[in-house]
Amino acid sequence: MAEKIIIDTDPGQDDAVAILLALASPELKILGITAVAGNVPLQLTQRNARVVCELAGRTDIPVFAGCDAPLARQLVTAEHVHGKTGLDGIDLSDPRMPLKETHAAEFIVDTLRTQPAGSVTLCTLGPLTNVATAFKSAPDVIGRVRRIVMMGGAYFEVGNITPAAEFNIYVDPEAAEIVFGSGVELIVMPLDMTHKALVTQPRVEAFKDLGTDLGHAVAAWIDFFERFDRDKYGSDGAPLHDPTVIAYLLEPDLFVGRYINVEVETRSDLTRGMTVADWWGVTDRKANAIFMGDVDAEAFFSLLIRRISSL
Ligand code: RIB
Ligand code: CA
Repeated sequence: MAEKIIIDTDPGQDDAVAILLALASPELKILGITAVAGNVPLQLTQRNARVVCELAGRTDIPVFAGCDAPLARQLVTAEHVHGKTGLDGIDLSDPRMPLKETHAAEFIVDTLRTQPAGSVTLCTLGPLTNVATAFKSAPDVIGRVRRIVMMGGAYFEVGNITPAAEFNIYVDPEAAEIVFGSGVELIVMPLDMTHKALVTQPRVEAFKDLGTDLGHAVAAWIDFFERFDRDKYGSDGAPLHDPTVIAYLLEPDLFVGRYINVEVETRSDLTRGMTVADWWGVTDRKANAIFMGDVDAEAFFSLLIRRISSL
């Protein structure tokens, strides 16, 4: 039976590729896509989520707009990485499919209440504002979540938006603190692992060689979005973050991690959003997350290209 998922996202080129991977995978049933402010403002992330669904011919997927700002902070966006639209790299017209009226957090609560307990996985690809808002407004649904697979955090790899913090956690550390403290089964795909899933030029070419509109779009997106990290890290490719969340659901053995304690810094301006991962077990803090440290990058990209080619 297909795993029921909600994708919470701030597209973002890498979010877009993750959504396409999910749409190409019959093992998954997407109950809805919930947009959150992050890479770009909510007005754009909710638009971009619908653009991706239309591109894949999946206007049946309900898309919801959620929180337009973090719980307690000013919104920080990442146009310097993703461009002003959030999907720079290829020009795509505005979507025709409608946005659902319901707020994303309400959709998450309603879905968790109506679906059988323990049957819905939350896949979070952006700041955790929507999920934390759902948990705050309806604590009864927390125990009904099957698991949360999230892209976020960093430890050995340190931060990408500040020296200490990864973007998704940095944008809304209070929301992350709620999610990490919720008791829900957490699988965390941090920079420590995603920085080993590098989009090298041959991998970009492999998408182009698919010869499909989607292959062309994915190649254009990752080529654009990766240039910032390629320049910053001076590597021959840049990390492809969000699709690792979906790939974990499909082939978990591609990833290696540890079940450890992870806490979120919310009080310090200097280390705001840092995920303090007790990788070596030096504290007696209770483990609360599987924190990934490695990935079989070759197998990950071959899965990704194989699935995208099927769309
Ligand atoms: O730090 C990388 C994360 O921030 C990815 O999810 C990317 O899309 C941005 O949201
Ligand atoms: Ca994202």
